[in-house]
Amino acid sequence: MSASTLIELKRVHKRFNDFVAVEDLDLAVSVGETVALVGRTGAGKSTVMNLIMGTIRADRGTVTVAGADPYASFASLKGKLAVSFQTDRLLPWRTAVENAELGLLLLGRKATDARRVALEWLDRVKLQGAAAKYPHELSGGMRQRVSLARALAVDPALVLLDESFSQLDHVTSATLRRDFSQIVRQYGKTCVFVTHRIDDAIEMADRILVLAPGARLALEVKVAPAQREDADEAARLHALIAQTMGGEEQ
Ligand SMILES: Nc1ncnc2c1ncn2[C@@H]1O[C@H](COP(=O)(O)OP(=O)(O)OP(=O)(O)O)[C@@H](O)[C@H]1O
Ligand SMILES: [Mg+2]
Repeated sequence: MSASTLIELKRVHKRFNDFVAVEDLDLAVSVGETVALVGRTGAGKSTVMNLIMGTIRADRGTVTVAGADPYASFASLKGKLAVSFQTDRLLPWRTAVENAELGLLLLGRKATDARRVALEWLDRVKLQGAAAKYPHELSGGMRQRVSLARALAVDPALVLLDESFSQLDHVTSATLRRDFSQIVRQYGKTCVFVTHRIDDAIEMADRILVLAPGARLALEVKVAPAQREDADEAARLHALIAQTMGGEEQ
């Protein structure tokens, strides 16, 4: 495995009872790369994310994240990995800044430090005015931003997102994706994200993997910055991916 490889799955199999969710998956993600997993429901995308996170264990094959098996050494990845989910999972009794600093406090950072860093991140996700508000006082898009601030505040090497933008309205989701992509690129984070929306994948990813059932790799597309910005190129990629996913326009 090269030094620039952050995630490596080799010949990974995962079944749930008799059901094969992941069949013989090989996957490598380099440091600083943003990879999108797309595919129809049940293809195995979240299962692959869970294998990378170390919340489930492969039946066969090897999973390596930052040099360690994430399942066997869950604790060693503490602070290196950040996760954001479809729902924001904020604690309702904590304000935005108290939610954003949570990961830092769990890592043992001093309270004053944690507060300062959390406020910086709220600023970066454009929530400077909302630090003292409780989740119920925030819109869905603002809550999702707090969740991203919390994830990024621990300065993780790896950010995993599973449908983190999908519940937001189109405009909010587009702004948040743009801000998030910019932060990921600016800070050189490695990111793997799951999305149902092909256009989101084209906009955010350096590489798109289309997964068929069993998390089998149906198509791999590299997206160069110039392609992303060229409407015709983006449309061509969109059509290719949609066709691979089964012809359905997404
Ligand atoms: N804990 C589990 N027990 C049994 N079956 C499971 C479990 N987790 C996932 N599966 C099955 O594995 C398959 C892949 O599930 P997974 O959640 O990875 O799909 P997905 O691609 O994320 O789908 P979606 O787009 O709907 O989120 C599905 O058929 C699902 O029913
Ligand atoms: Mg899923």
